Amino acid sequence: MSDKLIVMEKRVYIKTFGCQMNEHDSERMLALLAGCGYQETKRWDEADLILVNTCTVREKPEQKAYSFVGRFQRLKENNPDVIVGVAGCVAQQGGERLLARIPGLDFVIGPGKIYRLPEILHDVEKGRKGACAVGFEDGSSVHLPISHSQQLRAYVTIMQGCDNFCSYCVVPSVRGRERSRPSSEVLAEIESLVQRGTKEVILLGQNVNSYAKNNPHELTFPQLLAKINEIPGLERIRFTTSHPKDLTEEVILTFGKLKHLCEHFHLPFQAGSNAVLERMNRGHTREEYLAKAKRLREATPQISITADVMVGFPGEREEDFSQTLELIQDVEFDGLFSFKYSPREGTQAAQWKDDITPEIKQRRLEVLQELQREITLKRNKKLEGAVREVLVEGRSRNSPHTMMGRIRCNRIVNFPGGPEVVGELVKVKINEGLQNSLRGELCR
Ligand code: 5AD
Ligand code: SF4
Repeated sequence: MSDKLIVMEKRVYIKTFGCQMNEHDSERMLALLAGCGYQETKRWDEADLILVNTCTVREKPEQKAYSFVGRFQRLKENNPDVIVGVAGCVAQQGGERLLARIPGLDFVIGPGKIYRLPEILHDVEKGRKGACAVGFEDGSSVHLPISHSQQLRAYVTIMQGCDNFCSYCVVPSVRGRERSRPSSEVLAEIESLVQRGTKEVILLGQNVNSYAKNNPHELTFPQLLAKINEIPGLERIRFTTSHPKDLTEEVILTFGKLKHLCEHFHLPFQAGSNAVLERMNRGHTREEYLAKAKRLREATPQISITADVMVGFPGEREEDFSQTLELIQDVEFDGLFSFKYSPREGTQAAQWKDDITPEIKQRRLEVLQELQREITLKRNKKLEGAVREVLVEGRSRNSPHTMMGRIRCNRIVNFPGGPEVVGELVKVKINEGLQNSLRGELCR
C-alpha cells in the first residue's frame, strides 16, 4: 500500500440498491475502505471514491443503478481524479462488458470478491484503469473476514448463494451456488460484535434453513441458533431468508426453546396458485405453504409472518391471482413485500413471453397491496393494550422527544422518552396500532 494512502484521509460515497445482503456488503466494503484511509461521506460531490452497489434481482433497481452510474460519469468530466466503481450483482453479471459500456468507469467488483477491494483500489490509484474482479471461490464453504463494526443491530452472513433455481430468479447465477460459512467463524464474529456493543444480530443468507446442508461435520441451522443463543450479552437473534420447502418442524419448534430468538419469520411464497408455483420451480405447493404457516402460528401464537410475493408472472390468469389473494387472507401476513414480475436475463422464465401487460400487473399489485394494508392495520391494532419488550434504537424521525425501537416480532414502536434508553431493552405498553408502526408508552 502506498504512503499516500496511509497519510491522506479520503472520502468514499457509497450508494446501495437492493436487499439486506447488499446493505451488508456495503458495510463490509466500508470497513475494508476504512483500512485504506477512506471515511464515508454522505455528499457525493466531495467524494474521492464513488461506489455504486447494485442489484439485478428486479428490473427497477437495476435501471436505477444504471442511471445513477450515468450521473457520476458527468461528475467525472469536471473532476477526472474521482474514482468510480460498480459493485454488486450488476457488476457480477456485466463484468468486463460494463467497463466497455460505461466510459469513465474505473473498476467493477462482484459480491464474491469484496475482500479484493483494497488491492483493486490500489491498482486504480496507481493508474491502472479498468480493473475487474468477479466470480466466486469454488467449494461449499465460504470464509469472510470477521466484521468489527459497532452497531446495536448487526447483520452477520452465515451463507451465500442459492441452489434453488426458481425460474424467475437471477440470484443463483449472480451470487453463485450455496456456500456456508463455518460456524466457528460465525460464532467468533458474533462474539466480537457483542463485545463492541451489538445486542441484536440478523443472520443473513438466501436460504438459511439449508445452512451447511451438505456438510455432516457442521452444525445444522437449529444447532447454530442454539449456540448463538448462548453467547453472553447477546439479546436478540433474527434471520432471513427462508425457503418454505426447507423449513422443518425442528426449526418451527426452536422458537419456544431459545430465549433470544425473536418471533418473526420471513417466508416468501411468491404466488398462491399451484400452476404458477410449478412454473416458478418453487418446489412447494400452496397447500404445503399454508400448512407450514399454520404450524408456525400454532407453535408460536405471537409470531409475525412476512413474505415476498410477485404478480404478473408469465401466464398468470385472473384465477391464479385470486388464489394469491386468498392465500394472503388465509395466512394474514403481518407484512408483505410485493413486486411486479420482470424478466431477468439468463433465467428460465426470461425465455417465456412476458404476457401480462404492465396495466394488469399494476392493477393486480394495487389490489394486493390494498388487501395487505387492511390486514397489516388489523394485526397492528390487535397489539393495542399489550406490553412488549422493545430494543431502543434511537430518536424517532418525527420528533426529538420520541424514541423508536422494535418489538420482538419486528414491528416499529414510537414512544415518548429521552436518549438515556437508547440501546436498552425496555417494556412498552402499546396504545395504538397504525399502518406502518405502533405507538406506545414506557412502562416504568
Ligand atoms: N421479478 C420480480 N420480482 C422478483 N423477485 C425475484 N426475482 C424477480 C423477478 N424476476 C422478488 C422475489 C424475491 C424478492 C427478493 O424479489 O419475490 O423473493
Ligand atoms: Fe432466488 Fe429462489 Fe434462490 Fe430465493 S430461493 S434466491 S427466489 S432462486
